[in-house]
Amino acid sequence: MSDNTAVLEMRKVDKSFGPIDVLHSISLKVKEGEVLCLLGDNGAGKSTLIKTLSGVFQPTRGEMYMDGKPVNFTRPSDAQNAGIATVHQFGGTYPLMSVGRNFFVGQEPTKGYGPFKIYDREKANAIAVEAVQNFGITRITDGDRLVGGLSGGERQSLAIARAVHFGARVLILDEPTAALGVKQAAHVLRIVNEAKRRGLAVIFITHQVMHAMAVGDHFAVLIRGAIAADFRAGEKSREEIADLMAGGESMADLEANIEGYMEAHDGQPPEPAH
Ligand SMILES: Nc1ncnc2c1ncn2[C@@H]1O[C@H](COP(=O)(O)OP(=O)(O)O)[C@@H](O)[C@H]1O
Ligand SMILES: [Mg+2]
Repeated sequence: MSDNTAVLEMRKVDKSFGPIDVLHSISLKVKEGEVLCLLGDNGAGKSTLIKTLSGVFQPTRGEMYMDGKPVNFTRPSDAQNAGIATVHQFGGTYPLMSVGRNFFVGQEPTKGYGPFKIYDREKANAIAVEAVQNFGITRITDGDRLVGGLSGGERQSLAIARAVHFGARVLILDEPTAALGVKQAAHVLRIVNEAKRRGLAVIFITHQVMHAMAVGDHFAVLIRGAIAADFRAGEKSREEIADLMAGGESMADLEANIEGYMEAHDGQPPEPAH
């Protein structure tokens, strides 16, 4: 594989649900050691797009490629086996299980033989704690700790470290920072940069422009299911990106309109349209 081949690529993918066309001719690619940020407002089609990349949905039209070869994922396990790991907003972790158990869920190390085989808790904990520590998650030191006691950022980070440990090549993060405070979001963004440094191809979905700008090499803006803009880091300012996401409307104009309205209406904001 040459360095220039995308790890994962979509070419002219459409996705419809019966008569409803949700994705329109989506073409995108992501390479090793690169973060592609997928930006879009609510309802733009971001989740549909990543579910198509991760085998939950099949494209209605168009093709997908890994390392330049056509792929056809008929179920999520096909995508997982190909090295595509998807981490959702809440990390996909099990709050009532320990860090060690969570890390190995489904692939636990065992000790003993045949009918005497048992889960090797010490080993699982040691590997899990070492892996998360290597990722810079220094607050997790006890593999027996329940995941429910971790912060949202730590859970996200644990899920990412886990995916990397088990050999993911493509990491898809669906709004990982949306529900987090500033410090925790910064922590998750550091982990994303670490995954990139280790050579993963990362697809980072967000509607927070600042978070995208902190990690992104490449950006695609999705509006009503189509890629409305596609650019590299440094090519657009924060304001330009925000305006693109708002569908070409200038956010500065929109804010000025709202201020004008509030001045004329005793400081009350406009009622929602519906
Ligand atoms: N299974 C489905 N059947 C019909 N319409 C769907 C389905 N899934 C999503 N949609 C529609 O596709 C559009 C995009 O949704 P989604 O991908 O969840 O957007 P986002 O994640 O960007 O908020 C929405 O209008 C939604 O109603
Ligand atoms: Mg969504």
